[in-house]
Amino acid sequence: MTSRVALVTGGTGGIGTAIVKRLAQMGHKVATNYRNEEKARAWQARMREDGIEVFLTRGDVTSPEEAAAMVHAVEAALGPIEILINNAGITRDTPFHRMRPDQWMEVINTNLNSCFNVTRPVIEGMRERKWGRIIQISSINGLKGQYGQANYAASKAGMHGFTISLARENARYGITVNTISPGYIATDMVMAVPEEVRAKIIADIPTGRLGTPEEIAHGVAFLVDEQAGWITGSNLDINGGHHMGW
Ligand SMILES: NC(=O)c1ccc[n+]([C@@H]2O[C@H](COP(=O)([O-])OP(=O)(O)OC[C@H]3O[C@@H](n4cnc5c(N)ncnc54)[C@H](OP(=O)(O)O)[C@@H]3O)[C@@H](O)[C@H]2O)c1
Repeated sequence: MTSRVALVTGGTGGIGTAIVKRLAQMGHKVATNYRNEEKARAWQARMREDGIEVFLTRGDVTSPEEAAAMVHAVEAALGPIEILINNAGITRDTPFHRMRPDQWMEVINTNLNSCFNVTRPVIEGMRERKWGRIIQISSINGLKGQYGQANYAASKAGMHGFTISLARENARYGITVNTISPGYIATDMVMAVPEEVRAKIIADIPTGRLGTPEEIAHGVAFLVDEQAGWITGSNLDINGGHHMGW
């Protein structure tokens, strides 16, 4: 297997950690960003205990300048980025008729504008080298909508519009661009939902359980594989059958 350089944004989070681990276990050199250095270094130490080495660099993905600096730091340390996983994301749930402008902007900036900020400094190098894998971690709720998530669903649906345009523009350059839409995964993001609401969600999932971060990382491993070169512009639903499209 060819060892590649991978940047996973939000790699210290629930799903990000599983993606980072899986890519490292595949033999790739993996980097992620942080905003809180102390928290990130503690996370890095836990990863080392599992035998995983991760390059850390400061970077808020809502800032084009910080995202570019983050990309340059990774490339200076590890080499050109060949795999990019746009995973950093947040929720600021509230019914739309009560939603404040800052709740709208924060979610769009973190989930969607970040894709521009991080991918833009990476794409030209990928085109020159004629190889790349870009994956957006979207959400089931970008496909089906959700009460209280007009901001989140708009950002997540926007990520797939980004995917399919980049896929068309870059297919001739050996770059694949895909979306993964996770269903409800047992991370802090979902465990923060009140228990009775969570029970209702689980009752609605055909497999009868939440997903695991590792099950999302498995989808990433599949799409970054050398043999996945003809899969581009697709959306991979990983949701236990919670939402089925075609
Ligand atoms: N959990 C689910 O059930 C679920 C379902 C569908 C889709 N998703 C999507 O999967 C992705 C990961 O979710 P998760 O559950 O792993 O969330 P999480 O545990 O809250 O992790 C989110 C990560 O993103 C980082 N981040 C947030 N804002 C950032 C910013 N402005 N700049 C840089 N990094 C930032 C966080 O860093 P800090 O530590 O600095 O905050 C953290 O590392 C998200 O895009 C989410 O929307 C999750």
